Amino acid sequence: MTEERLFSIANRWFTTSVGITVAVFLVSVLTGFILLPYAEPGSRLGSVWDQICSAAGFPVRSSDSQPVPPDFKVSTAVMNVPGLSNPPKDSIGRGATLAQQCAICHGPTGVSRADSPNLAGQYAAVIFKQLQDFKSGARVNAVMSPFAVNMSEQDMLDLASYYSYLPRLPAAHPRQSDPIPQIVLSGAPLRGIAPCGSCHGGIENKAGSPWLNGQSATYIRSQLEAFASGARRNDTSQQMRNIARAMTPDEIEAAARYYSSIE
Ligand code: HEC
Ligand code: HEC
Repeated sequence: MTEERLFSIANRWFTTSVGITVAVFLVSVLTGFILLPYAEPGSRLGSVWDQICSAAGFPVRSSDSQPVPPDFKVSTAVMNVPGLSNPPKDSIGRGATLAQQCAICHGPTGVSRADSPNLAGQYAAVIFKQLQDFKSGARVNAVMSPFAVNMSEQDMLDLASYYSYLPRLPAAHPRQSDPIPQIVLSGAPLRGIAPCGSCHGGIENKAGSPWLNGQSATYIRSQLEAFASGARRNDTSQQMRNIARAMTPDEIEAAARYYSSIE
């Protein structure tokens, strides 16, 4: 009886099984670290070494890959400028003079009768940001944009001071008798929608979130649809686009009716 040694090159079973194991290992390394990362759509990793690092979980920025700029303007507006929260009197006065050219659409007291948004009592930070976005092209509207293109930053500050100083429509708060729609009251947690009032006022106001009460239903609906379709994309970090995309048409309608209802 021959005593065949197990771990020996002479043992064909041993060499074959080791050979197969090594082959499987090499194929999986090749597939996992090189072939799959290359096959991934949009992969812009440069060298093989970058592929391997990235597949192994070490983020790399390969020398020849530049960040891709979006093909549209993003908002670069700033809202923390001095003079916004506590505007001096003469800023409000200058704003009033400049606002004469806005009255035809936004109303002589900042309350529009033409489905343009009301500006009276809007947060100064919102007006300032939206004007910057209209000027830079981050928010586009054929009717409104031309009024912003030649504004200086001081003009925008003055207009923001003036309109935020004007009183809101006293009756512009949602009818108490109507039930508050579910989407406004508690959002839709499963779809990642926070209650509207947690940013827009009511529960809390997050800087840059517009006051909505009393805006026309047409305006609110059109903005929600524009955020959902991506036609409006000046919201920082897509916070409003993500919400509007997840809303159903019925919810959009309910929110528009609720915020536009007047006591
Ligand atoms: C010819 C009509 C017209 C004139 C004049 C006009 N606007 Fe507008 N404005 C609009 C419309 C329409 C919108 C809504 C745009 C949209 O649907 O995206 C708007 C939007 C705005 C917004 C954004 C409001 C929000 O809640 O997001 C601000 C701020 C604003 N206008 C300020 C002004 C100022 C300040 C002036 C004067 C210098 C002015 N507008 C002149 C029609 C006008
Ligand atoms: C996480 C905070 C947040 C929540 C929650 C939120 N919004 Fe907004 N919303 C914003 C911000 C910020 C803007 C302004 C975006 C920009 O910079 O142009 C905005 C803008 C809007 C506008 C455009 C108003 C205008 O005058 O330009 C409408 C309409 C609106 N939101 C409706 C809603 C509704 C309805 C809900 C609830 C379903 C909701 N939002 C929930 C943050 C929020």
